[in-house]
Formats: sequence, C-alpha cells, structure tokens
Amino acid sequence: MNLRFEPSGPLSGALTAPPDKVDLPRAALLGAMASYPMRIENYLHAADTTATLHAVSALGALVEMQPEAVIVRGAGLREARAPARAIDVGNAGTLLRLLPGWLAAQEGRSFTLDGDESIRRRPVDRVIEPLALMGAQLRARDGRFSPLEVHGGRLHSISYTLPVASAQVKSCVLLAGLAADGASTVTEPEHSRDHTERMLLGAGVRIHRNGRSVTVTNTDELVLERVRVPGDPSSAAFMLAAGVLVGGSRLLIRDVGVNWTRSGFLRILMRMQGIVLGDLEAEGGELVAEEPISDLDVAAGALEGTFVGPAEVPPAIDELPLVALLGCFAEGETVVRGAHELRLKESDRIATVVDGLRGLGAEIEATDDGFAVTGTGGLRGGVLDAHGDHRLAMLGAVAGLASREGVEVRGIEAAAVSYPGFVEDLERLAG
Ligand code: S3P
Repeated sequence: MNLRFEPSGPLSGALTAPPDKVDLPRAALLGAMASYPMRIENYLHAADTTATLHAVSALGALVEMQPEAVIVRGAGLREARAPARAIDVGNAGTLLRLLPGWLAAQEGRSFTLDGDESIRRRPVDRVIEPLALMGAQLRARDGRFSPLEVHGGRLHSISYTLPVASAQVKSCVLLAGLAADGASTVTEPEHSRDHTERMLLGAGVRIHRNGRSVTVTNTDELVLERVRVPGDPSSAAFMLAAGVLVGGSRLLIRDVGVNWTRSGFLRILMRMQGIVLGDLEAEGGELVAEEPISDLDVAAGALEGTFVGPAEVPPAIDELPLVALLGCFAEGETVVRGAHELRLKESDRIATVVDGLRGLGAEIEATDDGFAVTGTGGLRGGVLDAHGDHRLAMLGAVAGLASREGVEVRGIEAAAVSYPGFVEDLERLAG
C-alpha cells in the first residue's frame, strides 16, 4: 500500500510507546525453557511476536493468550519437542538467531528453522560457529543462510569473542551456555544491548558482566514469574525525530525503555542539539535485572551535524537511518562509520537509506560501513520505497511530515512489523 505524508504543521500531544519488539522473543524463549509458568505483560501484537509464540508452541511450550498478558508454560531447558515440520520464523531475525541457542542443547533431536524471503537473505553462520564449537551440529544453505538445521548435542562451555558486536549472537551463546557443562563467556568488540542478560539475571541465573565480557553459569532451572515489556525505544525514536524536525512541535512519549545499551540514538540526538528531556539510565555500571523506563519530552529545534563512530553504533543500530534523516536537516556534515552491519538488516540499510533519502533531495553518500550527509536545512520530498523494511517505511513517513513537498511511501504496511498503530499515532499528533 502506498501512502502520502504531507508537510505537517506542529505536532503536539502525548502517546505511549508501543511494546518493545525485541523483548518478547527473549521472554517467550526463557518462558519455554523454564520449569514454571511465565506471565508476559505489555505484549506487542505483531507478525514477529506471533511467529515467536507459534515457534515455542511447536517446541512443546503451552501458550495462553489473556486480555492483558501472555502466559508461557515451559517445555524445559532440555525438553524441547522436535516438531515434524520446519519452524517458521517468518521475518523475525531475533527469533532466527536466539532460538538455535536453546535447540543446540536438545541432545539427539533435530530442528529446522526457515522463514520468508527476506529472512533467507540474513546470515546465520554467525550463530553456527559458536554453537558448533560448543558441540552442536548445524547446517545451513551455502553454509550461511536459512533453512538452518540444528542437531542438538551435549554442550561444552565456551569462551567466545564475537567478531562483530551483536546482541543476537551474544544472546544465542548465553542461552546455549545455560545447558553447557560450566561457565561460558562472550566478549564483544563494543557493548550491544543487554536485554537477555537482564532477563537471565531476573530468572535467578548466575550471570555477570566484566567490561565487554559477560559470563553465564550453567543452570538446571529458570524461575521468572513475570516480565513486563517496556516501550520500544526504536519505535519511539521515529516519533522523537518527527517532534524534533517538524517546526513548532512539542511531544510527550510515555514509558520508553531507556536501558543505556539501547539509548545511543538519544545520546546522538542530544549531541546534535535536539531538545529531549527524560531520565536516561547512566552508561556502564553493574548488570541489573531491571529495564528502566522514562517519559520523554521533545521539542522542535535547530540541529548540528555530528560524527558517529563504531563504539556508538550497536546501542543505536536500528535508529541509524534516523540519524541520516536528522543529518539532512542539520547544519554541517553528519557522518556514520563502523556500521557495516546495517547492510545485513531487513534490507541493506546503507543502500536503501541513502537511495531513499537521495530520492527526496538529500545530499548523502554511502560508504562501505556507513554514510555521510551534508545538511541543507531541509528536504524537498518525493517517493520512497520501503523495500519491505519497517524502519524504512517509518523513515519515509517522518521525512514526509518534515519535508517541503511531502513524501509518498511505497509499502507503508511494513511499519506494522514493529509499530502497528504508527500511521494512526502520527495522524493524531498532527491533528
Ligand atoms: C536485536 C539486535 C540487533 C538489532 C535487531 C534486534 C536483538 O541486531 O538490529 O533489530 O533482538 O538483539 P544484531 O544483534 O544482529 O546487531
């Protein structure tokens, strides 16, 4: 479906950020591995989360949908049932990379994971390598892509250094580490989001962080009665960007997750002189179980260009397309480096963002690992193709409201993957 987003007058009002799309797979998997029922509150009804619940059901967990919560009754750490058919992960990259961590420990049982056309282009060799080192056997198409076969085995603990910071791969190894024969350590080149670690700590697992390393000790049992999913900082970021870019706007966004390993975009936006007020979690520090939330107050204003280097990339990875958009409106140059991972997301987000924004009149160049934008104070507008990528669809919409001539987004329905009420929320704020 194509939808036009016309230049907007000031945005105003309040909204509650939709539930975080990436917490549900973690909670549902831990619930499926646990021995006691888990209650998940503030659950996002969307395609990826539905795929996750179907997957854990197929593996033997009982899933009960209640009006205010999802209850998952676990199959057990080492008791996943081998389904007769392939597990369909749909478009859910987090599920594709985390689930093998649990399946690898199912001795003598085999599983196949497959998904849609886009998921078949997302690499899985990054999880094959550590899980094979731990003792499972895995096979993928061309050694790299889904369908992915996992043959469970008796797992050994591991000390593994990730070649690239990735919360998905880190999480996968930590989940496998729960059923290994000792303590497993994962070290990353930069800090990536730590939602899995926090949830494991909350489930009574012995886990600790030491700099960029995290060590998990094997366990027999997970006990986590309740998970409340915070508001999605990545979805909120699109509303924040709209609030900053559309002249005269003032917005309140409630209940946004402000875990410091996830709030890189907020720090970048503030450095660009964006006016955002909120109670952000301080960077660094001890691992805690809590996922902090805050209301964020944002107002439109002038922006300055900035440089985003490799250490800042993982905590802002899904919001970097928005940094490109902000850069179009900022004074001076905005450069992002060290973000080659963007090429491996739902679309090649370096190519799709650069082509998309250039088509709207931006002065932007792609590099191998990022982009450079020269701010011109605004954007003309035009047509932007979402390429089936939810973040591209939302980027085009926000660009349209802030542009001079409006933007037609081709494939706006993709936005629903992470933010089902996105268009309605934008329309409401625009009055
Ligand atoms: C995710 C981590 C990031 C992110 C993705 C979700 C997660 O991917 O881009 O949308 O759930 O941990 P990587 O871990 O591959 O960087």
